[in-house]
Amino acid sequence: MKAIAVRPGTPNSVHQRDIPEPKLDSIKDGKGVLVKVLKVGVDATDREINDALYGNAPPGDDYLVLGHESFGLVIEVGANVRNIRVGDYVTATVRRPGGSIYDKIGTYDMTSEETYYERGINLLHGYLTEYFVDHEDYIVRVPKGLKNLHVLMEPMSCAAKAIQQAYEAQRRMKVWSPKRAFVMGAGQIGLLSTLVLRLKGLEVFTLARAKGPHLKSSIVEGMEATYIATSETSLEELTKKVGKADIIVDATGSSKIAFGAMECLAHNGALVWTSITGGKNTTEVHSDKINIEWVLGNKLLLGSVNANREHFESGIRDLALGEVMFPGVLEKILTNPVEGLDQYQEMMRLLVEDTSALKVYVNVADA
Ligand code: BGC
Ligand code: ZN
Repeated sequence: MKAIAVRPGTPNSVHQRDIPEPKLDSIKDGKGVLVKVLKVGVDATDREINDALYGNAPPGDDYLVLGHESFGLVIEVGANVRNIRVGDYVTATVRRPGGSIYDKIGTYDMTSEETYYERGINLLHGYLTEYFVDHEDYIVRVPKGLKNLHVLMEPMSCAAKAIQQAYEAQRRMKVWSPKRAFVMGAGQIGLLSTLVLRLKGLEVFTLARAKGPHLKSSIVEGMEATYIATSETSLEELTKKVGKADIIVDATGSSKIAFGAMECLAHNGALVWTSITGGKNTTEVHSDKINIEWVLGNKLLLGSVNANREHFESGIRDLALGEVMFPGVLEKILTNPVEGLDQYQEMMRLLVEDTSALKVYVNVADA
């Protein structure tokens, strides 16, 4: 069957190749699920893997099949599968457990080991192919009524985890009740974080460079949040105007902005970093000022990566609620379909060159 792969370590090596079809009985306990791939989303991670900034092939292979944002249809299930049926729409988690205690209790997104296993990213093949098999534990049902949001399930799981982690850590405050949020960046993670925070009732300001009105500003406003163009109003100016934020989520991909946000967090607040920055940039920060403010303000900095099954499930519930609260808004994120695996060059071109492409995804097959 067809697959889109790279040769890790070789820049711009994206190519199509033939790989063997997966077998249901490769999962030994009878809990295998065979999924026909319908759509796969791609993001900056796929671009940076193709740039050879990171990413590794599975042991014994010299290629890595790309794709970690999956949406598919269940074709066959093993004899012991209980919670997934043939005909279900599903997505799949990305990480697979290593050996740490966190991996053993289902929180593989929190592994304490340096080596991590992620389908389509590190040491495991991804979903940009025609079929895949995985264990029932890693397959998550997508309600039929959400199939219009298909490839958003995985990015949503990352946004859901990031914010859930902040709330979890903030139990240290006993009575923390955040009112104002800044979301840095209006890419998929920024927009989905805006949704999660709005559903929690916060006043949300979502910041990105370009002056509106445009698609991103209309999505932000569609969720009853405020869009701020940093080309007009800097984060510093916004903070002077509305006050510091109780929670800030950075999803810009810029470490400079992630550090800059440290100056705009309120007392007792939480700053969550979600960007994977593959480069080697350095930046100057007001370290004395930040240091004293953070100590005197009991502030918290949290990094958040990936997501486990629980975050996929809570993310899916929030997408369903989002569809009811803000009908038709979330679908607008899904801007750039590419027709078929054969169009992989076009897929990469959109990722690299088209700054207006909010979400690129491949229509692999029809249901
Ligand atoms: C993926 C996450 C992954 C992270 C680091 C992101 O693009 O969505 O699932 O953990 O990259 O590899
Ligand atoms: Zn991703």
